[in-house]
Amino acid sequence: MRIGIPKEVKVHEYRVGATPEMVGLLVDHGHKVMVQSQAGSRIGFLDEDYKKAGAAIVGTAAEVYKAEMVIKVKELQESEFALVHEGQVLFCYLHLAPDPAQTAHLIDKKVVAIAYETVVDINGRLPLLVPMSEIAGRISIQVGATALQLNQGGNGTLLGGVPGVAPANVVVIGGGIVGTEAARMAMGLGAQVVIIDRDVNRLRQLDHLFGPRLRTLYSTPSTIENELKTADLVIGSVLIPGKLAPKLITRAMVKQMRPGSVLVDVAIDQGGCSETSKPTTHADPTYVVDGVVHYCVTNMPGACARTATLALTHATMDSALKLANKGYVKALREDPLLRQGLNVCLGHVTNAPVATDLNYPFVAPEEMLKSG
Ligand SMILES: NC(=O)c1ccc[n+]([C@@H]2O[C@H](COP(=O)([O-])OP(=O)(O)OC[C@H]3O[C@@H](n4cnc5c(N)ncnc54)[C@H](O)[C@@H]3O)[C@@H](O)[C@H]2O)c1
Repeated sequence: MRIGIPKEVKVHEYRVGATPEMVGLLVDHGHKVMVQSQAGSRIGFLDEDYKKAGAAIVGTAAEVYKAEMVIKVKELQESEFALVHEGQVLFCYLHLAPDPAQTAHLIDKKVVAIAYETVVDINGRLPLLVPMSEIAGRISIQVGATALQLNQGGNGTLLGGVPGVAPANVVVIGGGIVGTEAARMAMGLGAQVVIIDRDVNRLRQLDHLFGPRLRTLYSTPSTIENELKTADLVIGSVLIPGKLAPKLITRAMVKQMRPGSVLVDVAIDQGGCSETSKPTTHADPTYVVDGVVHYCVTNMPGACARTATLALTHATMDSALKLANKGYVKALREDPLLRQGLNVCLGHVTNAPVATDLNYPFVAPEEMLKSG
């Protein structure tokens, strides 16, 4: 199969869909891999390294997108819309529910779009989202601590306090992968942390994991409202896979928060969990609403792109190889977990939450894979 690895075009996005090692694996299995020149150069993966691994280096994205399968990191940006073609397999993060324009385009172009973020494992977890969530969770505390500084618009609270001065209050809404890593980092820096989740079993696991240093609370609107009133730093990390994030933080709740407190809405890639959240970029990551500093970067792991690329490709490598070796029809027929990643196929929406949120008819992936 001909496989293309483009250079990412999202603002300050330096991750790349395949490392030289992953390219080498695909080449060893008989595939032809085209890598766009400079695709990994900012993170130390040079054109020379890809060449040594057996890739052809091409100058433009247009050449990369001639491939039968494109493996990349982020969802298609508008400047990339024209590059995809009918029947092409696109394997990357897509986040379609908050992105009607991209969804309409993938349908229109009859692309076979497989989203990293909806592939599941045998335990129902999201193995291709997990590594990025781990990274985003850890970054959320670094950027939150920085945003709390007065020179950044924050209220001047040091996360860990000092002897004789209380530490910051950190409220984490959603105790999954992002929330757990955020809590771990915040506690490591000495903050007081509470995690709010609606899954009692998850709260039980977190209680066992962290012991009495962590407070856990069941998620209700009044619990969230109360905790926000005394929060210095809030991490939004809820997820209902495939769906728009629920707006658990209302505009009225934000109004009641302390001036100079900080909201890092990691769930912004699914639309954000606050009514006041709107996507930002690494170039201009924060804005202020009612005195509360909002950080809503949709590609947080891009800031630590080398770590993120290595972690991401460790997770995607097997699935990419399966798709390349077997073709998407056979690969997805045989693997019901990878099949969950199929979001759009030859003009139809094949992910139920995306279909519901964007008002498209849902066609089961199995239907689309019957022939071919
Ligand atoms: N901005 C970025 O760069 C970036 C990077 C990685 C992940 N993310 C996003 O972060 C979000 C969280 O990802 P994750 O991997 O931790 O997901 P996860 O599935 O591991 O955890 C989500 C948690 O949210 C909880 N939840 C759902 N509804 C809730 C509610 N009403 N109240 C409280 N908790 C609720 C779930 O029970 C679960 O524990 C996702 O939207 C993901 O796409 C963003």
